Amino acid sequence: MTNNTYMTDIEQTLTELEGKNPRKVLRHALENYDKVAISFSGAEDVVLIDMALKIRQDIQVFSLDTGRLHPETYQFIEQVRKHYKIEIELLIPDYQHLEAFVKQKGLFSFYDDGHGECCALRKVEPLKRKLAKVDAWITGQRKDQSVDTRQNIPEIQVDPAFATDEHPLIKFNPLVNQSSAQIWDYIEAYQVPFNKLHKQGYISIGCEPCTRPVLPNQHERAGRWWWEEATKKECGLHIAKK
Ligand code: ADX
Ligand code: SF4
Repeated sequence: MTNNTYMTDIEQTLTELEGKNPRKVLRHALENYDKVAISFSGAEDVVLIDMALKIRQDIQVFSLDTGRLHPETYQFIEQVRKHYKIEIELLIPDYQHLEAFVKQKGLFSFYDDGHGECCALRKVEPLKRKLAKVDAWITGQRKDQSVDTRQNIPEIQVDPAFATDEHPLIKFNPLVNQSSAQIWDYIEAYQVPFNKLHKQGYISIGCEPCTRPVLPNQHERAGRWWWEEATKKECGLHIAKK
């Protein structure tokens, strides 16, 4: 298939899936792509796993183990693994790059010069390695997570950051139009396990040094990289190539 035909194909599928409920989008991803993986952050995106297992049993799930997640998140990933009897692949950073980085800049350089370099090493590089081995991936991104950076996410797209001419990777965002309230309603209704940090005021959960609970009425991503501007609160997993 040429790239043009390919793009037209994705655009047509987007027209079919636009505004559809998360299960329809997930079903399309899981039934049309064999090499497809769910990217699980250890937070409320657990609903993707719950929904996916109702469609297909042999799902692939991975988490980016930055080495800096909260103990509660590691415990939760383990709880999910046991609860659903699934394998969860933990992707770790390249040890040589990481050792050199920490030796040179220490463990908390992101407070001084921003999260970009650390996220590139601990999240983006392992993700890139994983994505090279799949045809499509599924994320838990939602529009309501950020008015600054997530308003234009479609249900399906050619990956804006990682697709290449040789590897036209597809990205599915089934929860894109769901609100936080809808996700939590699903968690309650279907008794889905959740990360204990959510009971301590955390809404959006990332790495421990870069996440804090939010106050009532603060936006959920106010607790992520709180020392940086709202427009910079993306770590490279979901931003388009410059
Ligand atoms: S982030 O880019 O700011 O860290 P966010 O926490 O909003 O992302 O999560 C959005 C989606 O990105 C998650 O639902 C998940 O699909 C993916 N994601 C984020 N962090 C991870 C992680 N550590 N491991 C796997 N997937 C992740
Ligand atoms: Fe490093 Fe913080 Fe990014 Fe985690 S969120 S990879 S600790 S900068």
